[in-house]
Amino acid sequence: MQNQCSASSVDLTQIAAIAARYKNEPDQLMRILFDVQKIASNAIPRDVAAVVSGVTGIPEANIYSFITFYAMFSTKPRGKYVVRMCKSAPCHVVGAAEVAAAIGDFLGIAPGETTSDGLFTLEFCECIGLCDTSPAIMVNDSVYTNLTPQAAVNLMQAYQKGGVQ
Ligand code: FES
Repeated sequence: MQNQCSASSVDLTQIAAIAARYKNEPDQLMRILFDVQKIASNAIPRDVAAVVSGVTGIPEANIYSFITFYAMFSTKPRGKYVVRMCKSAPCHVVGAAEVAAAIGDFLGIAPGETTSDGLFTLEFCECIGLCDTSPAIMVNDSVYTNLTPQAAVNLMQAYQKGGVQ
C-alpha cells in the first residue's frame, strides 16, 4: 500500500487503520466514511474508497453509491471547513440568501467553490432540521442558527483565526 503518495495525497495507512476499526461491521459504513473524510481533505476520492473497501470487504460500488447519495460526502477534495448553507424554504424566507451572499462575498467564492488557501468550501444543502431557528448553517459538524449576514461573516472570521474548535 502506498503511504503519502496516493492520487489524493492522503495517508492511506491512516485510512486503513480507521477502516480496520470497523472491519466486521459493514453496517457502520456511514461512521467509517465520516471518520475517514475528516482526515482526507473532507472528501473520499477513489483511492481512499478502495482502501476502505479492501480493509472492510464492503464492495467499492456500495461505498461509491453511499458517497454520491449523501450530500455530506464528496469525492472531490474540499476545504478544511465545509460551510453548508440551508437553502430550503423556511430558511429562505427569513434571509438565507442574504446570509449566503455575505459568506460568499467575504470568502470570495461561490457555492461549490473552495478558497485558494484551502480553508473553506461553500455549499448549499437541504433542510438540516433547525427550521425553528433559521437561517441555519453547518460548518463541518457544528451548527449555527438565527444567523444574520454580519453574524455569519463574524463566524467565518473566527474560523479564519482558528478561534472555533
Ligand atoms: S429549512 Fe433550513 S434548517 Fe430547515
